[in-house]
Amino acid sequence: MSEQLVRPARTLQGSLVLPGDKSISHRYAMLAGLAEGTTRLSNFSTGADPHSSLACMAALGATVENKGTHIEVIGTGGEFRQPTVDLDCGNSGSTMRMLSGLIAAHPHTFTLIGDHSLTLRPMERIRKPLSLMGVKMDLVDGHAPITIHGGPLTAIDFDTPIPSAQVKTAVLFAGLQASGTTSLSESVRTRDHSEHALRAFGATLRRDQDRLSIPGGQKLHAIDATVPGDMSSAAFFLCAALLFPDSNLILDSLGMNPTRSALLDVVTALGARIKVLNLEEHHGEVIGTIQINAAPSALTTPFKIDGALTAQLIDELPVLSAIAPYTGTGISFRDAKELRIKESDRIALVAKNLKAMGAEFTEYEDGLDIPGNQQLHGATIDSGTDHRIAMAFAIAALRAEGDTLIDGAEAAAISFPEFFTHLETLTD
Ligand code: S3P
Repeated sequence: MSEQLVRPARTLQGSLVLPGDKSISHRYAMLAGLAEGTTRLSNFSTGADPHSSLACMAALGATVENKGTHIEVIGTGGEFRQPTVDLDCGNSGSTMRMLSGLIAAHPHTFTLIGDHSLTLRPMERIRKPLSLMGVKMDLVDGHAPITIHGGPLTAIDFDTPIPSAQVKTAVLFAGLQASGTTSLSESVRTRDHSEHALRAFGATLRRDQDRLSIPGGQKLHAIDATVPGDMSSAAFFLCAALLFPDSNLILDSLGMNPTRSALLDVVTALGARIKVLNLEEHHGEVIGTIQINAAPSALTTPFKIDGALTAQLIDELPVLSAIAPYTGTGISFRDAKELRIKESDRIALVAKNLKAMGAEFTEYEDGLDIPGNQQLHGATIDSGTDHRIAMAFAIAALRAEGDTLIDGAEAAAISFPEFFTHLETLTD
């Protein structure tokens, strides 16, 4: 386990291009592996998780090469081979859940494995729709390792009981290869990268209000794409910018898909001034350059996050919690039970680390109330080997009294290996 010392800072200034979005990188890697032809992906995520997806594509018969400037994937033309090894998803829930849908129609036996944290995460949520489509899928007490006996799939109409883009994607990827038209509705709209990625690779799908439908038996073709910068990685620096009155940060080529950019509204409400300097669209994804400065907040009551907003901010809640004590009014969030079954129990770990830094808060089963106007002190932070916890508390450390030691800081590499180097460069 590596430790990282984080000292209090006086300001945060500079400009950055974030590595490619983790969610989009997974989807491009998987669809490129299934497609016909050679896909070239620039600014692919540098995080370990999307590289687990690439390694699985190689095990399934795609040719994956890092060309320096881009990742090249020669697809299998719609025919995955019987892998000779287990499909190792590492720490990545996205890989395990979305890949299960992608491979289910192929007439082989697949075993999907992961690390200790991934083995604790619920997989019944994908077994349910996929078994309705005709897949035989064995779990161990609802968890990985997963064995999939692939074969012909039949389309289903499915209502997702939990808001999950990973489950939605598993169903869409399986539906793409089923007989008939699969349709699916979500009660809360989750990130829509799969819909954009499928269209980019040549698939047809329709959205009528909350219902998505995808005809089966479709073939994909390769693409050239640049992955937009990762908003969930940017979140750490956007939140850090809020902590210093004279901060100034420019983020270039940032993914600003509306289903991922709710954080910009939150930090604006909490006192940030954000200027959008440029906006473009590639393969359905919005990419922009933004500038952020801190300004006094006009809020008079705690910022409340619940319902659909919680689902949209699910990956940003750790860092918002970590800066909440320094805000004028505090932050309160609910409807976030899902946070307890991410790479760690993120509500429990946030609470543990806020406590270590001397913060007052109230913990609920599905959220936290964290009052503002608090001064925290440096402490030893337990990352719980969870990347977002390690990075969130490195940001809290910037405004603490005294130094902070992040235990298990190497976890940052799961999504953002360059995080601590950028933190050092941007802060003074
Ligand atoms: C992701 C969806 C979210 C998110 C995860 C990435 C995706 O998970 O927390 O980091 O790429 O689809 P759920 O779909 O389980 O909510």
